[in-house]
Amino acid sequence: MKKPTPFLTERQIAKRVKELGETIARDHKGKGLACIGVLKGSFVFFADLIRNIDLPVTVDFLGTTSYGQQTRSSGDVKITLDLSVPITGKHVLLVEDIVDTGHTLHYLLENLRLRKPASLRLCVLLLKPGKLLKPVPIDYLGFTIDDRFVVGYGLDARERYRNLPYIAELPESAREEE
Ligand code: PRP
Repeated sequence: MKKPTPFLTERQIAKRVKELGETIARDHKGKGLACIGVLKGSFVFFADLIRNIDLPVTVDFLGTTSYGQQTRSSGDVKITLDLSVPITGKHVLLVEDIVDTGHTLHYLLENLRLRKPASLRLCVLLLKPGKLLKPVPIDYLGFTIDDRFVVGYGLDARERYRNLPYIAELPESAREEE
């Protein structure tokens, strides 16, 4: 099967991720940072981002689901994997690959705030503003994109394409292929 054509290249992504990491490090200078990745989509971005944050960091992960087997968010977000250690009193950076309707992050930010971190900031690689249904305060944003169905660099279509090293738009005809 033909590989999808890059929409954001490895080079464009690496440049932006470096900038984000440097900005985050500057903003948290002199502090430790608890970085939390939202599984599964953020895992590639998360791994690259933390290597560009020159601070003492810890890593942890949250698992969520709202899509089930559907391609649209149900809005009913559930935590399927919780943090392994508390974040109370810590400076926290939540890292997500994409904001679509905003349901996932709206829920997660509220949930994490209740755990009383010293600070809580959000870093997102991709935002589709046209799809937003819930307000999501993004502190660090990689790219704003149109309403395209994107895969690669951690993002999937029916669990495939997460290992593409770049981000591609997947044509409708390819979405149902095995
Ligand atoms: C994707 C993405 C976000 C969420 C964004 O996850 O990684 O978590 O959807 O959508 P929203 O803004 O409409 O809530 P998905 O549920 O596809 O799981 P995955 O990360 O395991 O691929």
